[in-house]
Amino acid sequence: MSVTHSSNEEIIGRDEINDIEAILSVTNTDVDEVQHIVKDNADAIFTWDYSLARPQLRKLYEKAKTGQWNATTDLDWDTDIDVEQVVSADQSAAASGLTVGHYDGTVVEKWGDKEWLEFGIDARRWTLSQFLHGEQGALLCTAKITETVPWYDAKLYASTQVVDEARHVEVFARYLDEKMGGGFQVNAHLRMLLDDIINDSRWDMTYLGMQVMVEGLALAAFGFMHQMTDEPLLKKLLRYVMSDEARHVAFGVLSLKEVYDGMTDAEMKDRQEFAFEAAIRMRDRFLQQEVWEKHGVNPRDVVPLVLRDPTRDIFQQMLFSKIVPNCKKLGLLDRNDQWLRRRFEEMNVIQFEDWEDTGSEYLKFELDAEAPDAVGQAMAGSAGD
Ligand SMILES: [Fe+2]
Ligand SMILES: [Fe+2]
Repeated sequence: MSVTHSSNEEIIGRDEINDIEAILSVTNTDVDEVQHIVKDNADAIFTWDYSLARPQLRKLYEKAKTGQWNATTDLDWDTDIDVEQVVSADQSAAASGLTVGHYDGTVVEKWGDKEWLEFGIDARRWTLSQFLHGEQGALLCTAKITETVPWYDAKLYASTQVVDEARHVEVFARYLDEKMGGGFQVNAHLRMLLDDIINDSRWDMTYLGMQVMVEGLALAAFGFMHQMTDEPLLKKLLRYVMSDEARHVAFGVLSLKEVYDGMTDAEMKDRQEFAFEAAIRMRDRFLQQEVWEKHGVNPRDVVPLVLRDPTRDIFQQMLFSKIVPNCKKLGLLDRNDQWLRRRFEEMNVIQFEDWEDTGSEYLKFELDAEAPDAVGQAMAGSAGD
């Protein structure tokens, strides 16, 4: 019996994934909001089975205990940072993800170096701010997993991730406050995704949304910024966060593999749709509409061009370089007539399917190892198609 899939409209609220009006209509309408309350519908589960049933998760737990670091003492917060100098140096490496000449014919055409630099500084603040808000999402999600996952080994591991995420919130918040002059509010697309993850009653959906999708994207994005910047504090901060983040993605992949191997087509359909929804929300947020608005540009004028910007295209593809192989490892790509594969083809990210999944790659991110070259791999990967 074949499984019926929901329409794009039902999953992401629009039929066309590039419907710009629909994307831009999702905005943060209360930028002064201090508290945001989400209903968490999941059951908290005790287990009385304390046996070592999942050695791979126990190995991760041991790695997590020895991989701890202290944001206060391991990073040099006295580093003097000239934001203009840093961003202009990094921008020359296309770190803003935009091609300057690509925007001719819009108000942006008149921008000189000064305007691009100001935009670049806010784009950096915005990006780090969304990292920060995503980290808080991870903090809440991992606390939730500690309660909801039925396995002892996973509860132990998840508890270490709670501490890791607290540290990540701490470092991004501090960096933005002390070095960047403050941050931006949460992007509405990101918040929508975090809300959906917290709201879901099924424990594996927290893992899928957070560990596989959000953290998979974060690991790739941190790797990109880590390589693109020469600012020593940010570079070290990102390297330390990545050493934790790779473990977190591995936790998701190793845990869900066991569960998804036993799922029916109908159950897998729900997971495929959720993975697609998450992928779209994250892609939407990277259009950084708030930054354009702040700089006097109507996003409707530039976003159609952003979607076709060659620099951004490479950047966006690279963001999915962890997600796609991990989804493949979990059997999500090809179930139900290759449903998720088709969506990833449409998003132009399927070429990463045979890259190494994070279930094994995480060891390469340990602090004494040399982290994989995310940018080099992405350039090489995108050159091939
Ligand atoms: Fe994190
Ligand atoms: Fe994480």
